[in-house]
Amino acid sequence: MTLGLCAFIVALACGSNDTEVDGTTGATEQTGGDGEGTAKGKMLVVYFSRADENWQVGYVERGNTAIMVDYINEFFDEQSGKAERADVDVFEIVPEVTYPAAYDECIAYVNNIEIPQNLRPKYKNDITNIAADYETIFIGGPIWWGQPPMIIRTFLEAHPEMKDKTLIPFGTHGGSGVGSYTTLLKEYFPNATILESLGISGASIRDTSSKGTVESWLKRLGVDKQSTGVKSAKTRTTNSGRKYDLNGQPTNGHSGIYIQDHKKYVSR
Ligand SMILES: Cc1cc2nc3c(=O)[nH]c(=O)nc-3n(C[C@H](O)[C@H](O)[C@H](O)COP(=O)(O)O)c2cc1C
Repeated sequence: MTLGLCAFIVALACGSNDTEVDGTTGATEQTGGDGEGTAKGKMLVVYFSRADENWQVGYVERGNTAIMVDYINEFFDEQSGKAERADVDVFEIVPEVTYPAAYDECIAYVNNIEIPQNLRPKYKNDITNIAADYETIFIGGPIWWGQPPMIIRTFLEAHPEMKDKTLIPFGTHGGSGVGSYTTLLKEYFPNATILESLGISGASIRDTSSKGTVESWLKRLGVDKQSTGVKSAKTRTTNSGRKYDLNGQPTNGHSGIYIQDHKKYVSR
């Protein structure tokens, strides 16, 4: 076992702000938050996720939380044939400076520099229409040393207009749960309505059961019963890494032209 892995286990043992969470630390699924009410209006998913080497999954091209966002997107896609359906936009928080690809280097950097120096890492682009366009905002990412990564704070501080929105925390973790997202959102936006969160272990996010776990959570939140905010897939914010054809429909991109992260690709 490397020094980095030992350090991470110490972080787990030391716990986090997760004591408010109604779930079991280390469980595959864990929910928490206020849990009152349902999602409403137009919806936005904001997330941060780091690919490369990670805890228990080795090197991955797509981060664990990004996979969870894929499940959320797929749920909305599956609603799209229904007369009453909701749609969702996605905004990915992409750091200006990429984190170290090696897991040990990344946890050392975060533990020795980012957290002690209380840094606010910058991210690329931004979303400017939250106040007018969205009522419900999902906010998610990984747990880093018992808390959301500092870049989540950068985003929250850049968006005080979220103060009276409906917020839904979610994310993936190595055993700590995601209760600290709920805690952080309450700290920044005490007047917001914070709904039931969902945390899934990053090591099991690629298991087929995890998709069902996400779907059950979204149904409990009532997002499949929303009829407002319906938009054509063509207008989606597609910086989620997903692939769309030229008509804005999701595609596997195996052949032909597809759009991903606002760029056009040709696969041969
Ligand atoms: C810098 C760093 C610190 C981490 N600290 C924790 C932690 O304190 N508790 C925990 O449960 N998982 C921790 N993890 C594991 C991640 O939360 C987990 O692998 C998550 O699924 C990663 O999500 P992502 O691929 O979307 O970034 C840490 C991972 C990294 C890279």
